[in-house]
Amino acid sequence: METQEKKIILSGIQPTGTFTLGNYIGAVRNWNKLQEEFNCIYMIADMHAITVRQDPAKLRQNTVQAYALLLACGIDPEKSIAFIQSHNKCHAEINWVLSCSTQFGELSRMTQFKAKSEKHPDDINAGLFTYPVLMAGDILLYQSDLVPVGVDQKQHLELARNVAQRFNQRYGELFKVPEPYIPEVGAKVMSLQDPTAKMSKSDDNPNGCIYILDDKDTIIRKFKKAVTDSEAVVRYAEGKDGINNLMTIYSVVTGKSFEDIEKEFDGKGYGDFKLAVGEAVADHLEPVRSEFDRLMNDKAYLKECYTKGAEMAGRIAQKTVSKAYRKVGFVDFR
Ligand code: TYM
Repeated sequence: METQEKKIILSGIQPTGTFTLGNYIGAVRNWNKLQEEFNCIYMIADMHAITVRQDPAKLRQNTVQAYALLLACGIDPEKSIAFIQSHNKCHAEINWVLSCSTQFGELSRMTQFKAKSEKHPDDINAGLFTYPVLMAGDILLYQSDLVPVGVDQKQHLELARNVAQRFNQRYGELFKVPEPYIPEVGAKVMSLQDPTAKMSKSDDNPNGCIYILDDKDTIIRKFKKAVTDSEAVVRYAEGKDGINNLMTIYSVVTGKSFEDIEKEFDGKGYGDFKLAVGEAVADHLEPVRSEFDRLMNDKAYLKECYTKGAEMAGRIAQKTVSKAYRKVGFVDFR
């Protein structure tokens, strides 16, 4: 984080189980590439995770694992700030201030809230409802310019922009209004079993979702079972959701264009194509898996990294919290 001129990137991921191929392709893979050009801040969003019921011991374990996975995916704690959200109390503090600049109506329109409350009808807690405010705080605390996310987070980002603008209008300029940074290819990886739905950890069918720590055989088996269509031609076209999804995944992990892929599989059946995608994904993820295993055997190093990350994040965020407190009229006592 040497120069001040570089733009600031912030993003986060929830530590609910291991990352999916969707998380990787839509977000984390790009976070890695952005490290050279930008000042990057990446966090494990453990505070977000408790909006649905969690087993505390499991959450603790998943959070450390998610942090290790972040580093295994190429996030370099020497180049970027990588930390765990709950380690920086500023996230909780700014959340309250921003809640008071967020409208009930705009939160009611969040599609993820509607979907999650349908999924957990016995626990529609206030945190689930106000979660996008916590996320707005994550972004605004660091005066972020760009937020690299998959398409499913776009609405939350719109809200963060609205909240920032509203606060700035009411109290005077403070927050930078962030822009989304959504990849052209892979912004929404679909379930292998229902290619009209997003690939997600909560997929009812375990074959729909690839986890980046799945072993090679599991990955290939899941791709072999992927739902396609009856045309039996590998080409990217409307109505071919399953094949389009597989082509997107294959394109991202091999760097080949859709045109190259169509040529490569000209005259071949879906069986060959699905096997090739499975193998390419498994090979692409192999270094991530082995680096993850290595890091999980070095908990002291992980702790050192997330402690340093929290201190760096805390220093930046505290400045914003202090300014926000002053702007809204809280009395300074230091
Ligand atoms: P989360 O943990 O659900 O997902 C992490 C990132 O992965 C992307 N993603 C996908 N991209 C493409 N295809 C998919 N199938 C797919 N599934 C997930 C998400 O878009 C996201 O970028 N609220 C956030 C975490 C968060 C955050 C933040 C993000 C907390 N604070 C501040 C940005 C900025 C979440 O639940 O992401």
